[in-house]
Amino acid sequence: MGATQLLKPDAAGIEAGAAILRSGGLVAFPTETVYGLGARADDDRAVARIFEAKGRPTFNPLICHVSAAEDAFSIGRLDDRAGLLAAAFWPGPLTLVAPHRAGVSDLARASLGTVGLRVPGHPVARALIEAAGVPVAAPSANPSGRISPTAAAHVLEGLEGRIDAVFDAGPCPVGVESTIVACTGGPPRLLREGGVPREALERVAGPLGAGGGGAVEAPGMTLSHYAPRGAVRLDADAPRAGERMLGFGAVGGEANLSPSGDLGEAAANLFAMMRALDDGRPLAVAPIPDRGLGRAIRDRLTRAAAPQG
Ligand code: TXA
Ligand code: MG
Repeated sequence: MGATQLLKPDAAGIEAGAAILRSGGLVAFPTETVYGLGARADDDRAVARIFEAKGRPTFNPLICHVSAAEDAFSIGRLDDRAGLLAAAFWPGPLTLVAPHRAGVSDLARASLGTVGLRVPGHPVARALIEAAGVPVAAPSANPSGRISPTAAAHVLEGLEGRIDAVFDAGPCPVGVESTIVACTGGPPRLLREGGVPREALERVAGPLGAGGGGAVEAPGMTLSHYAPRGAVRLDADAPRAGERMLGFGAVGGEANLSPSGDLGEAAANLFAMMRALDDGRPLAVAPIPDRGLGRAIRDRLTRAAAPQG
């Protein structure tokens, strides 16, 4: 593949990106959570390029992005509670796993009978998918196992020359990936903490089923993830000799996720600050509260802290 084209998020850029997607190419685009690496979801050959560019194992399924909830309802069989969650949180940082009806390639689903569906809220993502006129499979736009990108520069750092184009469209406002909820019979189950806090889901759909925050039903959740080069130590009050320090609230550091202790601000800053501090030295991280968006932040940090396989 040749050079990676930089697209502006204006009408001409959207049309150019949509044309690349329609013809089976790879386009990285902003969503409210992180940048996604898109290919048309109805075409095995286009989807295969995503796995190749990321070095992603093909047993790990991709989320299918659509521009309107109606499209999700035609691709997946969404039950009553999935419908409630869709009505409350789409467009937005929620992925629903539901039985697959039709429309998404086998490879994108890793041959599962289910499909992950999401209607992103970011205006560039929605305009691009709508203009493409096809559902768009998109994992986070990083080499497999590395920190997710929240800016176009992060995408280029990992994938330049391996993808056709990337939108230069500023930072992602939420900053952590979508929450994944499985609605495949029985009470909905939380597969991944993310941009919609568990508390908000439960207000709409009632208590989530067993499995809880530590569930590993999403095949990708068992893999080494968000791996910085240095080791990560959580719940640190101060750095030890040789450590860099990522602060939160009153517990300061070289960078502070949110000096005022705001979890939304902390989520938005998380991946960029992890990248900025990742120079191979170990990283100490201040305590993050285990509620709201803090759950997703702690989940990502815990994965970053896990030994790398
Ligand atoms: O916010 C996000 O979700 C971003 C943006 C680009 O939308 N995407 C993202 O994709 O984080 P990815 O591929 O990095 O993570 C998707 C997770 C993986 O852990 C995968 O195993 C799980 O979703 N997943 C996808 N389809 C699934 C399915 N049918 N059943 C269970 N898990 C599924
Ligand atoms: Mg990812």
